[in-house]
Amino acid sequence: MGRPPLGRRLAAFGTTIFAEMSALAVRTGAINLGQGFPDTDGPEEVREAAVRALRDGRGNQYPPGPGVPELRTAVTEHQRRWYGLDVDPDTEVLITAGATEAIAASLLALVEPGDEVIALEPYYDSYAACVAMAGGVRVPVTLRPDGDIFRLDLDELRAAVTDRTRLILLNTPHNPTGTVLTHDELAAVAELAVERDLLVVTDEVYEHLVFGTAHTPLVSFPGMRERTVTISSAGKTFSFTGWKVGWVTAAPELVTAVRSAKQYLTYVSAGPFQYAVAEALRLPDAYFDGIREDLRAKRDLLADGLTDAGFQVFRPSGTYFITTDIRPLGETDGFAFCRSLPERCGVVAVPNAVFYDHQDQGSPFVRFAFCKRESVLTEAVGRLKGLAAG
Ligand SMILES: Cc1ncc(COP(=O)(O)O)c(C=O)c1O
Repeated sequence: MGRPPLGRRLAAFGTTIFAEMSALAVRTGAINLGQGFPDTDGPEEVREAAVRALRDGRGNQYPPGPGVPELRTAVTEHQRRWYGLDVDPDTEVLITAGATEAIAASLLALVEPGDEVIALEPYYDSYAACVAMAGGVRVPVTLRPDGDIFRLDLDELRAAVTDRTRLILLNTPHNPTGTVLTHDELAAVAELAVERDLLVVTDEVYEHLVFGTAHTPLVSFPGMRERTVTISSAGKTFSFTGWKVGWVTAAPELVTAVRSAKQYLTYVSAGPFQYAVAEALRLPDAYFDGIREDLRAKRDLLADGLTDAGFQVFRPSGTYFITTDIRPLGETDGFAFCRSLPERCGVVAVPNAVFYDHQDQGSPFVRFAFCKRESVLTEAVGRLKGLAAG
């Protein structure tokens, strides 16, 4: 018997569907609506701020472990401006290498081997790997279709909590379903966390990408301040996914714990970009309204196009993803469908089953990203129209 090539804890996480689908897009010349990265960069003045920082020698050497003070202060201003939350820039903020590192460091810091971690299924693919790296046991609570949205069943969430549950890993606005948890749903999650004395790590990277609804941070509910690790990132809000600047806000003891893990993952990252993101966070309301309105129009364009092409569409209230059901097209297997889609009509999407433990539950669902130029989405919609015919 040879030695297994990948450690047992990570054996199930060898390759991602995104690599396969992106390679397929390149090979077939298809439009890639699989992976969620914008095809237009963020604001010019923010790019210029990064150039200035590089030229002025700010952040070219190891920045401070918790992040540069300018950015930590900008994060606290952001929390006050949008949510009325008071956060201390010195003890309650930690800058990370994107939300991805924030999630990893939080789980590594807070989960003991054998602890159960509840996550909303389908979930962002790094969650399962990070729970595994921490030696935790993931317990999925499945969001289920209810009319034209996916909904959290609060009774199911409550029933999933056991004596071994350490934390809930929440994501709202939710990738891939586009669900934004309502005020009442968040209040119920908070109540449960308080009642069962659970920690909550909440991934709010799409906090500004909400349409016709409001995003409320879970930490603002009673009893949550001392048990919530809130995570966000510049990647989605400012369309700089390659910069990998994220942040954690939490009570001092929690930030200290997460920082202890983070310092041995990357120690620090993205020095000059931290200064640029500090400026981005202070952009006027018009910027935030602008990106939201732009994405809302793109959501409608793609959602209408997918409906016309015969998909059942779950119109998202947040994020830049649309989940669809392929069964009205006479299909049931999202993997097979996505593998054939580039040849059939020149578009790439991803099967939601990759975001599920219960793969059968996710099988008929397929995700499309709409953070692309209008002309690209219009072309994709035109190509998808051929599906019903062919
Ligand atoms: C729910 C969710 N969390 C985290 C991330 C990663 O964020 P970052 O690029 O800041 O690491 C993504 C990116 O797709 C995401 O969808």
